[in-house]
Amino acid sequence: MENISKYIKSISVGKINIKNNVFLAPMAGITDISFRKICRKFNPGLTYTEMASSKAMEFGSQKTNKLLEIMEDERPSAVQIFGSNKDNIRNTILKLNENEAIDIIDINMGCPAPKLVKNGDGAGLLLDLKNVESVIKEAKKVSKKEITVKTRKGFNEERITALEVAKICEENGVTQITVHGRTRAEYYSGKSDLDIIKKVKENVKINVIGNGDIVDLETAYNMFNYTNCDGIMIARGAMGNPWIFKSILEGKEYRPTLEERFNVMYEHINYMIENDGKTLANLKLRKHIACYIKGLKGSTKVRDLINRANNTEEVFNILKEYFNYLNNI
Ligand SMILES: Cc1cc2nc3c(=O)[nH]c(=O)nc-3n(C[C@H](O)[C@H](O)[C@H](O)COP(=O)(O)O)c2cc1C
Repeated sequence: MENISKYIKSISVGKINIKNNVFLAPMAGITDISFRKICRKFNPGLTYTEMASSKAMEFGSQKTNKLLEIMEDERPSAVQIFGSNKDNIRNTILKLNENEAIDIIDINMGCPAPKLVKNGDGAGLLLDLKNVESVIKEAKKVSKKEITVKTRKGFNEERITALEVAKICEENGVTQITVHGRTRAEYYSGKSDLDIIKKVKENVKINVIGNGDIVDLETAYNMFNYTNCDGIMIARGAMGNPWIFKSILEGKEYRPTLEERFNVMYEHINYMIENDGKTLANLKLRKHIACYIKGLKGSTKVRDLINRANNTEEVFNILKEYFNYLNNI
C-alpha cells in the first residue's frame, strides 16, 4: 500500500470549503451530537446528523428537530433529511434555511428500511427516477444551503441506478453525491461494489464520495485508489473506533492505548448524559460501548453486564473494574 496522503485534500461542496475529504456518514440512532462530538476530536472533514423525516419536520416534531441540532463548533455542518414528497421537502428546507448553523442539506436516497421504502422514501426513490428529479429540482429551487445526495448502487441487481441518479444531480445543480456500493436488496450483506463508484466518478464532474466497508487505513486507501473518488465516508467503521479518522488523516494505523480507549468512552457517555439525560443515555450507550470493547479479553461478558445495568453509575463502575483488570493482565 502506498501512502494515502496523496488522496487527502480539502474539498469544496459548492461554496462550502471543507478541510479534508474524510467524512463521518449519517447513521440513524448513532450519529447524534454526542458521537459526532467524539468523532470530531479526530478531525473528519464533515459529520452528518442522523436522517430526519421531512414529513415530521414539516409538522414541527420536536423529536425530529432535535435530530438536526448542530453543535456550536460543528462547522461546516451537514444535516440529512429523507422524503419523497416534494411539498414536504420544500417546506422542510424552508425551515432549515432559517438555521444559520446548517451549511449542507443531504437528501437520503438509500435507506433500505421497509417503513421508508413502502412510502417511496430512502431507497424507495430509486424506483421512481422522475420523482428523484422532481425532489431535487424542488430542493434546489428553495434551498439557501448546499444540497447533496446520498444513494446506493441501485434498488436491486436489475435496477442499478447510481449513475442515473448522479447525472440527475449534476444536471440540477447538486454538487456532491455519495455512493454506497450495495443495492437496497443487499441491505448490509455482501461487499460494497467499488466498480459502481468508479463508474459514477468517471461519468460526472460533481464530487463523488465513496462509501461502504471502510474499516481501516487499507480499505480507505483502496477506496481512493480504485475508484478515484473525491472523498470517502465512513459509517460502521467509526463505531467504537473514532481513531479511524486519525489513522487515515495521518497515514498511519493508530491503536489507542487502554487508557485512551477508556477516556474516550467515559467522555462519550458523559456527553450522552448531558444531551439525553441519564435514563436514555443508559440505553443509547450500549451499542457504542459494545463496539469500543469488542475484541478485548472478556468483553462479551462485560457487554452483557452493561446491557443489564440499571443506570449509568453502574456502567461506569463496570467499566472501571474491567479496565483495571485489563491493565493488570
Ligand atoms: C445503524 C445504521 C444506521 C444508518 N443510518 C443511516 C442514515 O440515517 N442515513 C444514511 O444515509 N445512511 C444510513 N446508514 C448507512 C451508512 O451511512 C452507510 O452508507 C453504510 O453503513 C455503508 O457504510 P459502512 O460500510 O462504512 O458502514 C446507516 C447504517 C447503519 C449501520
